[in-house]
Amino acid sequence: MKVHWAVEVAGTGLHVPRGVVTNADFAQRLDTSNEWILQRTGIRERRIADPDESTLTMAAAASREALQAAALTPQDLDLIICATITPDYQLPSTACLLQAELGCGWIPAFDLSAACSGFVWAMIAGAQYVHAGLARTVLVVGSETLTRITDMEDRGTAVLFGDGAGAAILRASTDARREILAVQQGADGARGMLIAIPGGGARHPASTRTVAERMHYMKMQGREVYKFAVTQMHQVIHSTAQEAGISLDDVKLIIPHQSNLRIIESACAKAGFPLDRVVINIDRFGNTSSASVGIGFHEARRDGRIAAGDLVMLVAFGAGLTWGSMLLRI
Ligand code: ACO
Repeated sequence: MKVHWAVEVAGTGLHVPRGVVTNADFAQRLDTSNEWILQRTGIRERRIADPDESTLTMAAAASREALQAAALTPQDLDLIICATITPDYQLPSTACLLQAELGCGWIPAFDLSAACSGFVWAMIAGAQYVHAGLARTVLVVGSETLTRITDMEDRGTAVLFGDGAGAAILRASTDARREILAVQQGADGARGMLIAIPGGGARHPASTRTVAERMHYMKMQGREVYKFAVTQMHQVIHSTAQEAGISLDDVKLIIPHQSNLRIIESACAKAGFPLDRVVINIDRFGNTSSASVGIGFHEARRDGRIAAGDLVMLVAFGAGLTWGSMLLRI
């Protein structure tokens, strides 16, 4: 959908744990190999949180960096949106705990659950608050401790996921050229159970059975999700540009969710978009779900891959099934 929101990204930040798990580490204890993981996913290594780290602590670290980059303090924030599927607790929300951790005022704070689309959806939600005049300055953070919901005995998922957080500060544009030009969101709940954590919710509350049957871990029908992703991602890239009335040639950088290098390559090839203008960090971080696009955004700014006036597209898909995009001039 074409929009005209005078909203800008004032700062970004990221945090990843120091612990690194390589493909060779997995090959030592699972029936897998560096070659299989690298060829099928593009992942070389991923980060794993220390026992004293969590979604909240990583979100706080990334948020502090974003605030510092924006030359703002926690008291300047009007709203916090935390995208996560691995909240520290079922209750309260991680966003509320983050509000206290950062030392903000009694501002509204809520979690957003859209899995790998989480950061993009949170950016869209936050931008709407600013556009509507309900908030001047919004902290959007995607943070995940996926290694805590990953079955390390299941080679089909164990090798894919990593931990980390990415944050962005949204505020009303201070320069008329900076704006959001298009957004897209969609979901297909009929295919929702393709990626699911069956246990621990109201349907199957935690019990000795749910633990014994490993129902608290993420289950994924990878091949089906793969087929969905390669089709949906390039369509979203194409239609987002089309709705904004711009050519993909004018987009400086695409920052996609990082779930599989082959999915990114295939989507960009179908969309006719060169890979050297795409952020790729799955080799270092694996799939960090809600955090991945935020991490990619920060790395792109930090590394000077985008400059004032550039058109940037965020695009993601994930469990739900969900998908989303945002086209912005930074
Ligand atoms: N090492 C070695 N072999 C493996 C591994 C492994 N780590 N994992 C699976 N295999 C085997 C399978 O058992 C299967 O063996 P079989 O042929 O004997 O049955 C074979 O490899 C092929 O399995 P596929 O699942 O068909 O492999 P595929 O090429 O599809 O790759 C993958 C699997 C990487 C999971 C891919 O399907 C994928 O990336 N899917 C999309 C994931 C995704 O995007 N998820 C969405 C985000 S997640 C979220 O929202 C939280």
